[in-house]
Amino acid sequence: MHIHKYEKWWLTFGITCLVVFLTVLGISAFHAGAHPPSAQVYINQEHVDEIAPFDNPGVHKVEGKEWDYEVVVVASAFMFSPMEYEVPLGSKVKFIATTKDVVHGFQIAGTNINMMLEPGYVSEFVTIVDKPGEYLVLCNEYCGVGHTAMASKLKVVD
Ligand code: CUA
Repeated sequence: MHIHKYEKWWLTFGITCLVVFLTVLGISAFHAGAHPPSAQVYINQEHVDEIAPFDNPGVHKVEGKEWDYEVVVVASAFMFSPMEYEVPLGSKVKFIATTKDVVHGFQIAGTNINMMLEPGYVSEFVTIVDKPGEYLVLCNEYCGVGHTAMASKLKVVD
């Protein structure tokens, strides 16, 4: 097949632009400490209550993983399950959350932990809890009339 010289040039130019664009997007989206939903773990939102680990929300001590505790959270209009939980100071914790209905947020006030919970997806975040105290965990995505009341509490205890 014969490709015209200019066509080849434009093709190269186009592909180069795409690569540059994706690189810039990738760096700005992931390098600056933003936490998009992992969007790699899928869940049937109709059956969240029956699917592990969401069939058992709460704090679970785990063995043989890179983290010590898993905090499993299910969001729904207009509450979190569980409403209150505690983890030991200094432990490495993986937050695992999803929603049963609409988009909700999972923001731990005063920290950089801020996830969007989307129906059909599982959002995860691993961190070391290194400051004791009580943290407000809020929904920061407008989800309806009960949005402002949608809050829970994380305790980091010594
Ligand atoms: Cu849930 Cu706002």
